[in-house]
Amino acid sequence: MTKRKVLVTRFVPYVLEQLAKDPTIEVDCYERDDEAIPLNELITRAAGCVGILCIISDKITKQVLDAAGPTLKVVSTISAGYDHIDIALCRERGIKVGHTPGCLHICTAELAVGLTLAAKRRLFESNRCASEGDWGVIQMYCGTDVSGCTVGIIGLGEIGLAYARMMQYGFQCKILYTGPREKTIPQGINATYVDLNRLLEQSDVVSVHCPLNADTRYLINAQAFERMKKDAVLVNTARGDVVDQEALLNALQSSKIAAAALDVTSPEPLPRTHPLFQQRNCIIVPHIASATIRTRHAMCDRGLANLVAGISDQPLPNPVFM
Ligand code: DGY
Repeated sequence: MTKRKVLVTRFVPYVLEQLAKDPTIEVDCYERDDEAIPLNELITRAAGCVGILCIISDKITKQVLDAAGPTLKVVSTISAGYDHIDIALCRERGIKVGHTPGCLHICTAELAVGLTLAAKRRLFESNRCASEGDWGVIQMYCGTDVSGCTVGIIGLGEIGLAYARMMQYGFQCKILYTGPREKTIPQGINATYVDLNRLLEQSDVVSVHCPLNADTRYLINAQAFERMKKDAVLVNTARGDVVDQEALLNALQSSKIAAAALDVTSPEPLPRTHPLFQQRNCIIVPHIASATIRTRHAMCDRGLANLVAGISDQPLPNPVFM
């Protein structure tokens, strides 16, 4: 029996256990669970695969697709976003691409809410002062109210909508939103569509939830920071490159905005020496929005379902394109 070779780019025992149940599949797995597969390993190991199961840190470029060759039928990413994959080339070559929407929107929205609270109420900054022995006085730690504030959401997809609901039901926030889906009537919330400039000018919180693509790269740039309120906070749980990081650093250093809270940066990991780490009004966490046990399991299940469907010439349950 000729086995179907699949490359799994990250050591995840649950994924390997599931794949081991199918005797027709031969798994080549990058052994490490604590670092991204190096590019040269990705290229070498992709050769002759029918499927690749990857994550967001793996850049599935022309070089990787060329190395995989004509046997490759499917690239399945364990993520909702797919900006790390050359989608146009996959489409041209008839390689299916699957992703994992529908299971991480709630926990991503939860993290955005947490970052919003942390940035507006200066939680990390005050924690750092307390742990450094600088207890201080309460006036040092005044932030701004979350309840009743105006929240501007860039990208009202399933994550943006979940965040909007949490902020409106939980904190009675006024919701503004922008993005290409203005004609979509948001379900279950009272939200107003505005253009980006108005959103930036009127929001106390600007929260980024759009995908990264040619239209959204550096959408939040120096001009955008000029328009934002001085006491506004920026929350980004989408992709680092939606924000011009140099412009963000400048905006934080020159108090053009009050604070930023980032789950995503450019690059990832962000080097320890990066000046954003020195900014007391900048919170950075290591891309953990989908990091709950239940969510990661659900994402693995969806990634596996796409992989197995793709190598079996079946339609993918969650295709990026049809
Ligand atoms: C995704 O799935 O795209 C998220 O960024 C992972 O946290």
